[in-house]
Amino acid sequence: MAARGNFSNRLGFILAAAGSAVGLGNIWKFPFEVEAGGGAAFVVVYLIFCFTLCFPVLVTEIAIGRKTEKNPAGAFVALGFPKWKYLGVLGIISGIIILSFYNVVAGWAFGYFIEMAQGNFDIGNQFSDYITNIWRIAVYAILFMGATALIVSKGVSGGIEKAAKILMPTLILMILGILAYSFTLPNAMTGIKYYLVPEFSELNLRVVGGALRQAFFSLSLGMGALITYGSYLSKKENIVSSAASITLFDVGIAFFAGLMLFPLVAYSTGGDMSNIQGGAGLIFVTLPGVFESLGPVLGIVIGSLFFLLLSFAALTSTVSLLEVPVSYIVDEYKANRNTAVIIMAVIIFVAGIPSLLGNGYSDMLTNFITYVGADSPTDFMTFLGQLADIFLLLGGFLIVTFAAYVWKKANLHEELAQGHEGYHQSWVKTFINITVSYLCPALLGMLFVLVVLNNFFGIDIIN
Ligand code: PHE
Repeated sequence: MAARGNFSNRLGFILAAAGSAVGLGNIWKFPFEVEAGGGAAFVVVYLIFCFTLCFPVLVTEIAIGRKTEKNPAGAFVALGFPKWKYLGVLGIISGIIILSFYNVVAGWAFGYFIEMAQGNFDIGNQFSDYITNIWRIAVYAILFMGATALIVSKGVSGGIEKAAKILMPTLILMILGILAYSFTLPNAMTGIKYYLVPEFSELNLRVVGGALRQAFFSLSLGMGALITYGSYLSKKENIVSSAASITLFDVGIAFFAGLMLFPLVAYSTGGDMSNIQGGAGLIFVTLPGVFESLGPVLGIVIGSLFFLLLSFAALTSTVSLLEVPVSYIVDEYKANRNTAVIIMAVIIFVAGIPSLLGNGYSDMLTNFITYVGADSPTDFMTFLGQLADIFLLLGGFLIVTFAAYVWKKANLHEELAQGHEGYHQSWVKTFINITVSYLCPALLGMLFVLVVLNNFFGIDIIN
């Protein structure tokens, strides 16, 4: 297996997988999902989903990957179920879709780093001009895809793992640094209260579905990223405890990102949280003004540090997104890694062009589709994001169902027991047993249907 590559140790695997998980999802999307979903009530539902529904899917994906040492499509064939290959293909397609638009947003973040470093705080007010300045945004997107491709081309231990070992600790230090600073600002407590005091009355199907989608996306589940990374993991390592570390890492970073952001926002609004801007704007529109209010020197330091951090977080995620199709081409077509990287990076960049144009530049792509029952159209990038979310839920549902009823639980447990002494006697085994066979298929299947009806057809069965 030397040709495919391997993670050099458990820490390398955990950092790479956590690097995949921690990304724009945690720092850009999580805070505004929290804001839209009733503050801490959303956080509570999110945490429950992460540990009960997502963790078992994470464990199952890693087990399938490690058992077969294959890419997501090849893995199902290697287990002896060639028809299930299409589940892997669905995952690979989901990954390509996600990377196509994710790379565009990552490029925005990187561009903001450059603006902040020059002290251009006014960029927040010019956000819509910024994202319609197509050539400039395209250059950032190309640079970002180039950096991603470079890391992936260096292979598993020499590229992916090495990048994660440098970027992840740096990321943590930057978050803690900004967090500590934000706590010293006036009105910090107002921001924290806003973030952490739950309003359970705001919970509804949209919020619950949103929490599940966010959890899946944030943990990189349902598309085989973890099957791929698991395929490079040594048999000596304990899958369950590694998966627990990855989940805690991801949830922890999302939580701290919120703790760091809301005091900053509260400071800049003078403690008035009644009309802070949610959505994409929370980071790209509001934050530059927040940094400006810190004064010219600190503003530049904290502001550029923040957007650099966001770029680093995105980079370890784009790396995992590119690795999935690359591993597929390398395994199945015996292609050279560099060739596979170049082909996929170019295809995915081109696939991202409509997302690049759909934020105000092209009218058609900006008002791409109007869902049944919606008052206003949805842009192409948001549409792709919603489509991908749905694919991830479907993928996750099918992966656990496959493991429990097609591959069979005994085989899953056998793989999980490798490198985990005492697994067969542990409560974790019972937990995995119940969740993978009943809880995950039932709830994921049901929520998948509800989310599709709600998102695309405007139907809300619960309310
Ligand atoms: N988990 C990443 C994030 O939160 C996004 C991602 C999704 C990466 C799926 C890989 C696979 O930003």
